Amino acid sequence: MARFRQLRNFTTTLCAGLEPEDYVVQSMPDVSPTKWHLAHTTWFFETFILKKFVPAYRSEIPEYAYLFNSYYNAAGDMHRRDLRGLISRPTVREAQRYRASIDSHIDNLLSGADEKLLDEIEPILVLGIHHEQQHQELLITDIKHVFAQNPLYPVFRAKKISAAPAKTMPIHFFDFEETIISIGHDGHGFAYDNEGLRHRALVPAFSLASRPVTNGEYIEFIEDNGYTRPELWLSLGWMTVNEQRWQAPLYWTKRDGAWWHFTLSGFRAVEKSVPVTHVSYFEADAFANWAGARLPTEFEWERAALGCPIEGNFVEEEDFHPRAQSPSGDDRHLHQMFGDVWEWTRSAYSPYPGYRAEPGALGEYNGKFMCNQYVLRGGSCATSRSHIRRTYRNFFQPEKRWQFTGIRLARDPQ
Ligand SMILES: [Fe+2]
Repeated sequence: MARFRQLRNFTTTLCAGLEPEDYVVQSMPDVSPTKWHLAHTTWFFETFILKKFVPAYRSEIPEYAYLFNSYYNAAGDMHRRDLRGLISRPTVREAQRYRASIDSHIDNLLSGADEKLLDEIEPILVLGIHHEQQHQELLITDIKHVFAQNPLYPVFRAKKISAAPAKTMPIHFFDFEETIISIGHDGHGFAYDNEGLRHRALVPAFSLASRPVTNGEYIEFIEDNGYTRPELWLSLGWMTVNEQRWQAPLYWTKRDGAWWHFTLSGFRAVEKSVPVTHVSYFEADAFANWAGARLPTEFEWERAALGCPIEGNFVEEEDFHPRAQSPSGDDRHLHQMFGDVWEWTRSAYSPYPGYRAEPGALGEYNGKFMCNQYVLRGGSCATSRSHIRRTYRNFFQPEKRWQFTGIRLARDPQ
């Protein structure tokens, strides 16, 4: 119950600087309005816990089931995703009231439940907590996209971020020997179903970069005409670059010969020592080709992460922006594997051997998206520290750029 309350309060905290007008904008089909995130995460607890475990429970407003279902076909019909920004009612205040009402129903249910009932509810409640943490991250990346459309460049969180060091650690590569390792979650504690089944995988020898690619390194790629050299790009990537007229990462603009970008703390000069972010898989792959390297597989990444503590720049820091690695850091181990930026892998998001989606609505959580997407690892500056794991598999289509996505290079043995 304490965890549930803390989670729900953190969502409210994230919205602290927003005005009602900010909550309703949908700047592209991938973006959901803040108000929708508030209501949809609430709908999740209402649908999968209250409607299931409280026999006398009746929704105050049954239409919310249609408006705030995202993609769960087994839970009924749903409103069109790309039209979420057209919905001015319920109002922001009504959505907040919906949250409070469901919270108090959950409170009542848990405080009156016996051990047996609690055992049944717990896995779904924990799933709901992780689900809302995912939406907290989306809420942040979505409002960033919304604000970036506004020539006034609204500030999401006024925060004086200490100046990034001018230089960062030089990049170097760690060598890993060929081995057979266990991949996937071992079953202790929470994991999503897509992290199983745990299985053995052969990982041939590879090298992995000590830290993510920085803005400064990415600018070298841009200045070497990286965006206009088809030989660096996947065919689909080259089509996308030309159709979308990409010349730099999302949110970047050139002013008087220097690169600037929109951040959640305002518009500012691109810091060269900070990890590059808001790049697509296509850009990550082209950069790697240009650098004489490649992206890691998710198995290489998971193997390398075994020795890394799960610490870093997560949402709890409330920077909402990646940080530079100190130039005087220890160069004997990998840096920034967790937090800062999600790292694109070259692994297609597909089921592990033996994976079967559960029957019913909750089986739709991950399994049905295992087509045409790539796996990302490690979490970002918008991810909760308690949400990420070494085995965590995030996934997006290769052209998506609005998440905090970045690049870590890998190489085959020289
Ligand atoms: Fe959701």
